[in-house]
Amino acid sequence: MIDFQRIHRPYQEELSAALERVMHSGQYIGGPESATFEADLSKYLGAQAIGVANGTDALQIALMALGIGPGDEVIVPAFTYAASAEVIGLLGATAVWCDVDDGTFNLAIDQLATLRTPQTKAIIVVHLYGRCADVAAVEQALPGVAIIEDTAQAFGAQWTSGPYAGHNAGTVGAIGTFSFFPTKSLGGLGDGGAICSRDTDLLSRAQQIASHGQSKKYHHQCIGVNSRLDPLQAAILGVKLKYFNKSVDRKKSITSMYLDLLSGVDGLVLPEIVDGHIIHQFTIRVLGGKRNGLQAFLKEHGIDSMVYYPMGLHQQEAYKHWTTKVTLQVSERLSHEVLSLPVHEALVAEEVKLVVDTIKAYLS
Ligand SMILES: Cc1ncc(COP(=O)(O)O)c(C=O)c1O
Repeated sequence: MIDFQRIHRPYQEELSAALERVMHSGQYIGGPESATFEADLSKYLGAQAIGVANGTDALQIALMALGIGPGDEVIVPAFTYAASAEVIGLLGATAVWCDVDDGTFNLAIDQLATLRTPQTKAIIVVHLYGRCADVAAVEQALPGVAIIEDTAQAFGAQWTSGPYAGHNAGTVGAIGTFSFFPTKSLGGLGDGGAICSRDTDLLSRAQQIASHGQSKKYHHQCIGVNSRLDPLQAAILGVKLKYFNKSVDRKKSITSMYLDLLSGVDGLVLPEIVDGHIIHQFTIRVLGGKRNGLQAFLKEHGIDSMVYYPMGLHQQEAYKHWTTKVTLQVSERLSHEVLSLPVHEALVAEEVKLVVDTIKAYLS
């Protein structure tokens, strides 16, 4: 799905220099590398951001900063990665499942009003596969409910129309969370994450929580966690951020190739790619119950593909205690249809063609 050696080759020297710089600095927690990356990240996003250890911590800290706990309900899509819901349970709050839209793969806005109760404190809006969810519509449907943008899959995505045109995903809700897991659009050489907010009080609360609830060393104001973006990852991410826009453009052109070559193939639904979308995943839908067969056929021909995700979160053993208030049939259907194809900036046209020819051979 992703070939890091090829991806990193063009800036291998800069990455190695960054690693060596940190090694020789003797500072392995905090310090100038982390501060520089936080400043670069904030500049890129157009809003203040802080580094944390990973995207799951970022979500948990965001919920903690908003004071979410037992008795509170948090709306979350049923079709997303487990972390988006797991953190709700960790804090003793209740997840309320929302279905998704089969065109955008993001929240089904028309269900939101029905899901609201007096206990609804927040909604986790996931920008799935790199496409911005309609945060403005969420605000309209749920006035007064805190919006956490789970931007783990959409660093660099932007709205190009509507009230948030020109803004980056993760910067318009009460708080935005990011993951720098290696496969993410901005990925480190290990775990990493960030939290962003335009609300300076909320962001400083999040920063305090991420540092054991300390206001200053050994003075603990609240219960917190230990969640730091270490200088090694910060230095690597700083290099990768410089080349980020190039990688987005390259993935866009690979996506265009896929869309051209796969257009008109019976039994497939191709994703709609909109302006401002970064291609975290290129996810097709395979109709007629053929998804698993196609995936196995691709594998036999040496081609990786992935199913994000094979079931709705409401169907997972760990989350079955949260009741389902609305129909989640799109999430359930998608879990049988979706197939993500390889997309990374080092992929070449012949490889894309091979993937497409193999898909066509199976479906014909
Ligand atoms: C939508 C979503 N949220 C949260 C996370 C968690 O991020 P991390 O793996 O950095 O903890 C991920 C990572 O896969 C994700 O895809």
